[in-house]
Amino acid sequence: MWKEKYRIGVELIDEQHKELFRRVTEFIKTLQSQEPWEKKLVHVQETLEFMKDYVVIHFADEETYQAEIAYPEREKHQVIHEQFKAEIEKYVAKFNQDRYNEETLKELGGRLLAWLVYHVAGDDQKIGRYVAQGKVVK
Ligand SMILES: [Fe+2]
Repeated sequence: MWKEKYRIGVELIDEQHKELFRRVTEFIKTLQSQEPWEKKLVHVQETLEFMKDYVVIHFADEETYQAEIAYPEREKHQVIHEQFKAEIEKYVAKFNQDRYNEETLKELGGRLLAWLVYHVAGDDQKIGRYVAQGKVVK
């Protein structure tokens, strides 16, 4: 579900975005597969745990880059990252505590994907445009 047009022109960030898309896609595919439910749960849990740790690394790298280029909207961007981190942590905690049913997990997969597309294709694109044009383009 990754698209080349999502690139912002920074190799590290683009590769990390790709990986995030790969994981969310995998999450959704697992739920759609014919695997037994218990297996799906293991798979889903692995993906969630991975995402929880990986977004921390990715957001930190992205924020470092924004600081390097003195990106004017980096504080606003950081708030969005913090909110998403908190959201994922909440999901993982809830998952570990009382699992989810299939319906809720599908909803979660859809939400993760929607967030990723919205953020990478929206907020993050502004970083690339700022570098290219030397100003924030809304
Ligand atoms: Fe971002």
